[in-house]
Amino acid sequence: MIRAGVIGYPVHHSKSPAIHGYWIKKHNLSGEYKAIAILPGELEKHVQHLVQQGYAGFNVTIPHKVDIQTLCSTVDATARAIGAVNTVVIRDGKLSGMNTDAYGFIQNIKQDAPFFDFKAGPAVVLGAGGAARAIIHGLLKEGVLEILLTNRTREKAEALRDIPGASNMMIMDWDDRNDILREANLLVNTTALGMAGQEKLDIDLKALPRTALVNDIVYAPLMTPLLAQAKNKGNPFVTGIGMLLHQARPAFQAWFGVLPEVDEELRKLVQG
Ligand code: ATR
Repeated sequence: MIRAGVIGYPVHHSKSPAIHGYWIKKHNLSGEYKAIAILPGELEKHVQHLVQQGYAGFNVTIPHKVDIQTLCSTVDATARAIGAVNTVVIRDGKLSGMNTDAYGFIQNIKQDAPFFDFKAGPAVVLGAGGAARAIIHGLLKEGVLEILLTNRTREKAEALRDIPGASNMMIMDWDDRNDILREANLLVNTTALGMAGQEKLDIDLKALPRTALVNDIVYAPLMTPLLAQAKNKGNPFVTGIGMLLHQARPAFQAWFGVLPEVDEELRKLVQG
């Protein structure tokens, strides 16, 4: 029996048990995947317990994504670039940290918009939190030549220049967010704005070229006001749920030995 899970606090809302549980069943594996609530300050004690119980590894969510690095014997280059670990593999009692969020973001676009050319023009990124770090890393790896980053708090955007390869990224004023869309090839919302219960993202896509792809990492609701606006204008768009689903694939592979697929049944299951 292979054991894995997701650690975080709170963690009961996590969709990861449903995702991994679906794949365990689909591939007829002897395994389990649980949500494990761990309070900040109790990380080391609980992680040691998981190692003793023979866990193959675990996903890491808020608030442990940065702190878990200190417990890892190795942290791979991607996770170091992003500055956070979302997946841990345990072998011979040692923890290896990785981050699959950038992979999830890119694979979601590749699956849902296979025609999209990352190199065809600038990407406009809204927001400068943890999700933005992974997305910018992913875009740079795909060869995006120009990234225009804008965030309500400019200093937080400036701080993202320490992502390897991002030193020349253009930081734009939040007040100019409508105008900088003029030459965009891709627009990504990495903030939680537009999520059910949150404020709406205040943006006007009038200047955005009709061919530009629009992606929102918010997936509840699936059709956010931003995506609805893009659809109305006739722009191609990709919803956010696939980032969550695709980031889980390499983790599942590392623990269970199979690289699973994101299929319609899984999408339906997780969208509820
Ligand atoms: P995560 O790590 O999940 O990306 P985060 O670090 O809390 O989340 O980042 C949230 C992002 O949403 C930030 O870019 C934040 O902008 P600030 O850096 O100015 O806080 C952005 N955000 C949150 N509420 C916002 C609002 N009302 N208007 C504009 N941006 C907002």
